Amino acid sequence: MPLPELLTVEGLSKVFPVKGGVFGKIVGGIRAVDDVSFRIMKGEVFGMVGESGCGKTTLGRMILGLLPASSGRVIFDGDEITSLDRAEMRPFRRRMQIIFQDPVGSLNPRKTVGSIVGEPLRVARRSGESVPAEVEEILRTVGLPEGSAHRYPHEFSGGQRQRIGIARALILRPDFLLADEPVSALDVSIQAQILTLLVDLKTRFSLTMMFISHDLRVVRSLCDRVGVMYLGRLVEVGAAEELYSRPMHPYTEALIEAIPEPDPSIRRRSEGAEGEMPSPSDPPPGCHFHTRCPLRIDRCFHEIPALTPRGEGRLAACHVR
Ligand SMILES: Nc1ncnc2c1ncn2[C@@H]1O[C@H](COP(=O)(O)OP(=O)(O)O)[C@@H](O)[C@H]1O
Ligand SMILES: [Mg+2]
Repeated sequence: MPLPELLTVEGLSKVFPVKGGVFGKIVGGIRAVDDVSFRIMKGEVFGMVGESGCGKTTLGRMILGLLPASSGRVIFDGDEITSLDRAEMRPFRRRMQIIFQDPVGSLNPRKTVGSIVGEPLRVARRSGESVPAEVEEILRTVGLPEGSAHRYPHEFSGGQRQRIGIARALILRPDFLLADEPVSALDVSIQAQILTLLVDLKTRFSLTMMFISHDLRVVRSLCDRVGVMYLGRLVEVGAAEELYSRPMHPYTEALIEAIPEPDPSIRRRSEGAEGEMPSPSDPPPGCHFHTRCPLRIDRCFHEIPALTPRGEGRLAACHVR
């Protein structure tokens, strides 16, 4: 029987060494991702949210095998892929693709769009032959104008360049698409167009997606379930609408309260989380959020709360709630 989940992440962690002194000895570590576990079901769009620096990109890169994990496992469609070498990873690379926040930086300015988008296909087939028909088709599918293949990235707008990135990610017909802040660099009006396109492509290509964003509003409209990260740790998971309307973790609540209210006459109950996010090179003991938490109790200062089930697919890591 096929597994209902496409991706399982178990206790995944990443510590970046910090070097210091004249001899460049390792003097500490940045716990960018700290013991993160979750699953993504086939056909699901899973959102991962949290402030900048909380470890979302590092987590995504480890899942795709672009960055080695310090510990933990990644299981893709039943196969553990955490410790595969390059050759063993190749078939999975095809099935797992990524789109980035910055479509400009990730597109080679000296190559035509046709060459950029067709490249994964040429590499996969190990041939130098051009693949214009497939390229034309995928460019049309992502909504780029006729003739785009012969033009260069700088001739396109920001939104169109993100469409080029999406075309390149989808040309190999992956099962899994990781979108790392794909609309954060775009104007709000263009954001909506790209999000609509992603929803459409998800159905069309039977994709399972992980959608990384610092903006809870963006994931709410697009995702089935959402995970919330704080300082490298997953602190809450739940169905998108549930999590948004009934946040359980005080940090999730603070994120929601920090969303600007379109109507200025509506006053907020609170100002969200107090103060700044501590550094992941020196995270506070106990619950990482306790330094900013309005609900903290003694236990929060010294005991890390586990992510535990709270019914109806909800998980939260909090001693108080
Ligand atoms: N290659 C690296 N070397 C050292 N520290 C890194 C590296 N990449 C990311 N970090 C640190 O890890 C933390 C998490 O970063 P990142 O995963 O980019 O967060 P996010 O994507 O949520 O903004 C940050 O403190 C960042 O500075
Ligand atoms: Mg990031």
